[in-house]
Amino acid sequence: MRDVDLREAVPSDENDVASIAERVLLPADSSDRDNLRRFLWETPDMIRVAAVQDQRLVGAAFGTTSRAPASTDAGSVAFLVVHPDHQRRGVGGALLTEVERRFAARRVNVVSAGGGLPRFWWAGVDEEYRAALQFFRKSGYVESDETVNMTAPTGAGETESPLPAGVSIERLDAGTWPSFHAWLRDEWTDEFWAWADEVEPALHREPPSCFIALRDGRFLGFAAYDTNRHGWFGPMGTSPEARGTGIGAALLRRCAKDLRELGDQAFDIGSAGPRDFYRKTVGAEISRRFLLLRKTLD
Ligand SMILES: CC(C)(COP(=O)(O)OP(=O)(O)OC[C@H]1O[C@@H](n2cnc3c(N)ncnc32)[C@H](O)[C@@H]1OP(=O)(O)O)[C@@H](O)C(=O)NCCC(=O)NCCS
Repeated sequence: MRDVDLREAVPSDENDVASIAERVLLPADSSDRDNLRRFLWETPDMIRVAAVQDQRLVGAAFGTTSRAPASTDAGSVAFLVVHPDHQRRGVGGALLTEVERRFAARRVNVVSAGGGLPRFWWAGVDEEYRAALQFFRKSGYVESDETVNMTAPTGAGETESPLPAGVSIERLDAGTWPSFHAWLRDEWTDEFWAWADEVEPALHREPPSCFIALRDGRFLGFAAYDTNRHGWFGPMGTSPEARGTGIGAALLRRCAKDLRELGDQAFDIGSAGPRDFYRKTVGAEISRRFLLLRKTLD
C-alpha cells in the first residue's frame, strides 16, 4: 500500500466520507445525509478512523460498542467505505485492522460486520455488497446468521385498526419518556439495552416518531420509526399478555400513516422479525437480505 496514513476521522471529514459513500453505496444507503451525519459523528463512543493519501481522504471506518453491561463481545464494524480509485490496495484492510486494534483495547473480543449498538446503519452486510462480503470473509469474519428488511406501502396507514376496549394509542413525548423507559427496562429485559438507545432518537424527532399503546395508564406496546434512518420502521413490541388483540397492527399503521403524511410511498421494516405479521398487516415483502458475520479477535 502506497503512503496511506491512518488518523482519527473527525467531523470536518463529513463531506468527504459522504461523497465516497455516494460513490460506493446504494443510493438508499447514502442519500439520507442528515441521519448519516448524526450516525457517524454523534453516536456515543464511536471508533472513527480515516485513511489519507496526499492529504486526501480515501477511506473511513467506524465501529460501535454496545453499552449493555457485561457485553464485552458486542463490537461492530458499523460503516466502512473506500474510494473506488483506491480499492484493492489494502486500504480497507488497514482500516479494519486499526478498528479491531481499538476494539481489543476496549476489551471487546467478538466483532461483527455491519449491525451495531447503540446505533446502526445496517443490520449486517447487504448481500448486494459482494466486495464487502469477500473482504470480511478474507479478513477472518464468518457468517453467523442472516436477517431481512421488508418493504411495505405507507398506504397501509390509511386503514384504521380496531383496538380492544379501553386501549388508546398516543404519541410518545418527553413527559411520558421516564415511565416508558422504566417499562422498557422491566418488560423487555433482553432487548432493553438495544431498544432504549434505539428509541431515544425518535423522542427527539419533530413530532416524536414513536407511538405507545396504553390501557388505564399501563403500557401495552410501542412502535417507532425514523430512529437511525428515515423511512425505517422499528423497533416495536407488544407485551406478551396483550398480543393477538390488534395492538401491534394498530401501532404499525399509525407509523405508516405518519410516513405517508411525510410524503413517502413505502417504508422499510428493519430486521423484520415476525415476517407473517408484517405481510398480513401491511402487505410487506422481503426487500433486502443482510448477512451477519463475526470474528473472534486473538
Ligand atoms: C469493502 C471495501 C471497504 C474493501 O476495501 P478495499 O480497500 O478494496 O479492501 P482491501 O484492498 O484491503 O482488500 C482486502 C481483501 O479483501 C478481498 N476483497 C476486497 N474487495 C474485493 C472484491 N471486489 N472482490 C473480491 N474480493 C475482494 C480480497 O481478498 C482483498 O485482498 P486482495 O486484493 O489481495 O485479493 C470496499 O470494497 C468498499 O468500499 N465497498 C463498498 C462499501 C461497502 O460495501 N461497505 C460495507 C458495509 S459496512
